[in-house]
Amino acid sequence: MKDARPLRDITWNELQEMDAGRKGPLFNRHDRPYHCLIAQQFSREMLDRLGDLATAVRRIAKSKAGSRFLAGLLDHKRAMIYFSQPSSRTFLSFYAACQILGIKPSEVRDAATSSEMKGESPEDTVRTFSSYFDLLIMRTPKQGFAEKMAWLLSNTDRPVPIINAGSGKDQHPTQALLDIYTLQRSFERAGGIDGKTVVFVGDLARGRTVRSLSCLLTNYRDVRQCFVTDPRLQVPDDVLEQLKAKGVEYEVSDDFAAAVPRADAIYMTRIQDEWDKTPGESGHLDISRYSLTAKHLAQLKMTAVLMHPLPRRGEIEVAIDRDPRAIYWRQVRNGMWIRVALIATVFNVDAQILEYYKLNHA
Ligand code: CP
Repeated sequence: MKDARPLRDITWNELQEMDAGRKGPLFNRHDRPYHCLIAQQFSREMLDRLGDLATAVRRIAKSKAGSRFLAGLLDHKRAMIYFSQPSSRTFLSFYAACQILGIKPSEVRDAATSSEMKGESPEDTVRTFSSYFDLLIMRTPKQGFAEKMAWLLSNTDRPVPIINAGSGKDQHPTQALLDIYTLQRSFERAGGIDGKTVVFVGDLARGRTVRSLSCLLTNYRDVRQCFVTDPRLQVPDDVLEQLKAKGVEYEVSDDFAAAVPRADAIYMTRIQDEWDKTPGESGHLDISRYSLTAKHLAQLKMTAVLMHPLPRRGEIEVAIDRDPRAIYWRQVRNGMWIRVALIATVFNVDAQILEYYKLNHA
């Protein structure tokens, strides 16, 4: 049953003991994202609304008048983008998303430049940010830290929204939102995402984008999920348990060639060796069998799509970028639009955007 209590009325121990499915809705308000922390907080309806909003924003932003309208919506707000792990796409797309909505972004990209170097706890550092900013966007190597801060701030007089831009090996919910938006657009004229087969390939053991996207896909009817990689890099049990609990059809395999012809979407990932217990230990794994080559392309349906959250290593050759089924550079651009849609929803200006769109574009 849905827990109707606000986050501040729940103890930290209680929150930690809840499973993700029960916890997710606590980060929403009135069935809309307030914080964005885990994929389990998103329903199909929320995903549809975010996708429609992202499309409206994308079209409005094409004109100078539209860009000015968007930039006036939240020009009284400030955002802190606090990244203590490297990033190109997520950081820059959030930065651009803030600019599109008129929000003034600031950044801390290295804890070494904050008072954490003087022994301040990360919790106090983030609480300090909440004193100056209206929105915190955080990437951290620590699983659950964004959740902890959302809970902690809910008991202060500055309970600002928090967006998880990647937490440990655990979740990357906004990457999954952009992946879903890209799939919505790709399959717009092919019946949508329902009924499709999605094949995940690569480092599924440590890829946080895989865990978040696998969860969001459970919102769609009859989507089959295949996890194809070396057994040492297979997807963790908790992901499979979640699929079992929801009655989702899935397959675990090490046979990439057999999976390719059945795929509607192939989601490639790189080796996540930043999580190696001993630096360089992943180097011993030969995963070249799980790289996408021209040979695989010949077996792939003409209507299928090739995705990658990026950055890539050698798992997709650059020459494949020219194949019309390769949509990973579209994912990069879509990340900006869906992040605008998310932030606009958090600050309740989504209805204004849709109204403007109806008047000027419909
Ligand atoms: N996909 C992704 O999270 O990329 P960055 O690490 O560059 O942000």
